[in-house]
Amino acid sequence: MARNKIKAGTNIPKHISIIMDGNGRWAKKRLMPRSFGHQMGMERMVGLIEHAFSLGVQYVTVYALSTENLKRPQDELEGLYNLIRKHFATYMERLCKNGIRLRVIGETSLLPDDVQEILRASEEKTAENTGRGINVALCYGSRAEMVRAVNIAVEKGERVTEESLSNLLYTGGQPDPDLMIRTGKEVRLSNFLLYQSAYAELYFSDKMFPEFSDKDLEKAILWFSQRTRRFGKTDEQLTKEQKI
Ligand code: IPE
Ligand code: IPE
Ligand code: MG
Repeated sequence: MARNKIKAGTNIPKHISIIMDGNGRWAKKRLMPRSFGHQMGMERMVGLIEHAFSLGVQYVTVYALSTENLKRPQDELEGLYNLIRKHFATYMERLCKNGIRLRVIGETSLLPDDVQEILRASEEKTAENTGRGINVALCYGSRAEMVRAVNIAVEKGERVTEESLSNLLYTGGQPDPDLMIRTGKEVRLSNFLLYQSAYAELYFSDKMFPEFSDKDLEKAILWFSQRTRRFGKTDEQLTKEQKI
């Protein structure tokens, strides 16, 4: 059903990352509390991930909470933790069918103990799965992730290479994101997957996250499909390689 909305021959990204921004503004515009925006955002996240997999995407990484977001008012953070307490396990069970593996990426030790436990339990349920994957970034910061990775290497007395550093990141072993989507009208990366996105195509949407629809995701994928990814080469080189 969903698959035929995307034309045959469309280049589907293997890995999509999404900066899910705009929940607060979306709610404010409707005279609702920010927590309502987060709730609707979480529901939209589940729908979008399902749709992405139905289109053939293999990895989805969603930015749910940054390290910097921990500076937000305590009641907003509590609201977010309550959403995790209430819905995370059920949603992830629904999403991680058919062999999909869940990874929670970020400095999760900064979260309340019971929330950490919920995240760990959901991850464990999918630990045997290989192939497709969902990464939920919580208390995530890309610079902190890189520092952590380098320190792991230092402790082992190893020098890092581009490849070994990549493998020491939370996303180790997964292909780099091909397409990064940011909703919410801002045009910045806010410390998300900086190392992994060296050659990602960047797509910015003016829509607030709760209103970013399955159709909008398809639009972003079609846009991606029309990009020429040169990875430093010339168009002529690419044409030659295609002929071989
Ligand atoms: C993104 O939405 C979700 C989180 C950072 C938790 P925001 O909460 O940043 O929404 P805006 O940007 O204030 O509208
Ligand atoms: C980025 O959104 C983080 C998440 C979507 C989780 P922010 O709303 O925190 O980003 P800034 O602060 O506007 O850059
Ligand atoms: Mg924001």
